[in-house]
Amino acid sequence: MTVIKVFPDVESQTQAAIDLFCRFAMEAIADNGRFSAALSGGSTPKRLYGGLSQAEWQHRLDWDRIHLFFGDERHVRADHPESNFKMVNDVLFSQVSIPATNVFRVKTEFDPRLSAFNYEDELRAFFDEAWPRFDLVLLGMGEDGHTASLFPGTAALNEAQRWFVANYVPQLEAWRLTLSINALNAAKNIVVLVSGQSKAEMIREVLGQSGSKNQKPIEMITPVYGEMTWLLDHEAASLL
Ligand code: 6PG
Repeated sequence: MTVIKVFPDVESQTQAAIDLFCRFAMEAIADNGRFSAALSGGSTPKRLYGGLSQAEWQHRLDWDRIHLFFGDERHVRADHPESNFKMVNDVLFSQVSIPATNVFRVKTEFDPRLSAFNYEDELRAFFDEAWPRFDLVLLGMGEDGHTASLFPGTAALNEAQRWFVANYVPQLEAWRLTLSINALNAAKNIVVLVSGQSKAEMIREVLGQSGSKNQKPIEMITPVYGEMTWLLDHEAASLL
């Protein structure tokens, strides 16, 4: 099932994302003793991570039972300004009492393909299932309809077996590392966070009545078993 929620501003959108993250975490811990989430890069989810490090949530979440992965990563050093790990570490991991063993950094020190194989091994060790059934996958969306590091026209969009792959992005002239479409679609809950007027045209194309001319990567995200929730601010939803 897909739910679309529109918020008057980024602050209320972020609070809704925090509430969802905490609800999914508490439910998973109560049901299964642990919570697993794949985090997204980008500026929109960054506000959520910063919110989770505030005192109120710090003490309400059982960080010992929370396991945080990355839905994608740039192929740069962990201390590089473009690193998703660095971004989340600065605003969240370094601010809360999550055990280091519960944070699964993509080790980008290796060749992109080896980094992806290594991360897939870590995922398979954590999820003893046919696909990684994250309790929550957080995603953003680019103006071109990309999500995670699945960009239009790139090879990773055609990956059918692997969970986590290296994906060369000609538009960026750079290697990226990303969960595959099938791995993302195995999630129990997917939350897509989109804000800003610059995303309005793509939101209209992807969520509007007219549909899009050619399928965008974000439109390939349709959870097999789970639920998908779009959290939009007023600007991103302004053309719906
Ligand atoms: C990344 C993200 C990427 C991001 C979109 C939207 O590594 O950058 O995985 O898919 O979610 O580019 O980013 P913003 O939310 O900053 O617009």
